[in-house]
Amino acid sequence: MTIERTEMRQVFPTPIWIVDLKPDAARALNGKLMAEITALATPRPDIPRGTNWQTDPVIHKLPQFAEFVGLIETAARGALRSMHLAKYTMFVTGCWANINPPGGVNSSHSHPNNFLSGVYYVSIPQGADRIEFLDPRAQASVLMPQPEEFNLLNGNSVTIEARDGRLVLFPGWLVHQVPVNASNAERVSIAFNLMFHQYGETASAPLWKGRIPIKLPG
Ligand SMILES: [Fe+2]
Repeated sequence: MTIERTEMRQVFPTPIWIVDLKPDAARALNGKLMAEITALATPRPDIPRGTNWQTDPVIHKLPQFAEFVGLIETAARGALRSMHLAKYTMFVTGCWANINPPGGVNSSHSHPNNFLSGVYYVSIPQGADRIEFLDPRAQASVLMPQPEEFNLLNGNSVTIEARDGRLVLFPGWLVHQVPVNASNAERVSIAFNLMFHQYGETASAPLWKGRIPIKLPG
């Protein structure tokens, strides 16, 4: 018996989009955002160690964040294009700034009733430069023999580097967390959610076939 060819295909991918600003643009935008967030955090709230502080999730409605909302919308359009959903438009349903002091964490959560969620990094110290996404396939963690090396095929979480000027976008259902801030400085980011305009009217007609088979080539 002679094998002609073997192949492994990876199916059912989970997208995480990364949008990096040019360094000059990132510096300029982050300087402005930091000043606005500092103003919102004045008078300075007490942030006990191990916790974090967030603004109300309404800063997308403030004129001083209009340029930033434009960045979110541009990133979202790109994500929709990559999923062949460019005919739909989205709006920001909530947007808030986060300050994680040294020792601060964000425990695992998702963002229900939003198609996309994301975060933009304003000021990320070394030692607080990660966001972690958990494998949504619960079954895949039932048996985890120890491999020579963990990778996307045998691990059950993925970390993405957080860095100043980076925007990370992901499905709202994807569970994520922020590991402990192991630096001596504050970790400042802006999180947001997006949903379709008029989803009920434009996009929610029943798919009478519950299964949409995707034919792989070859
Ligand atoms: Fe989140």
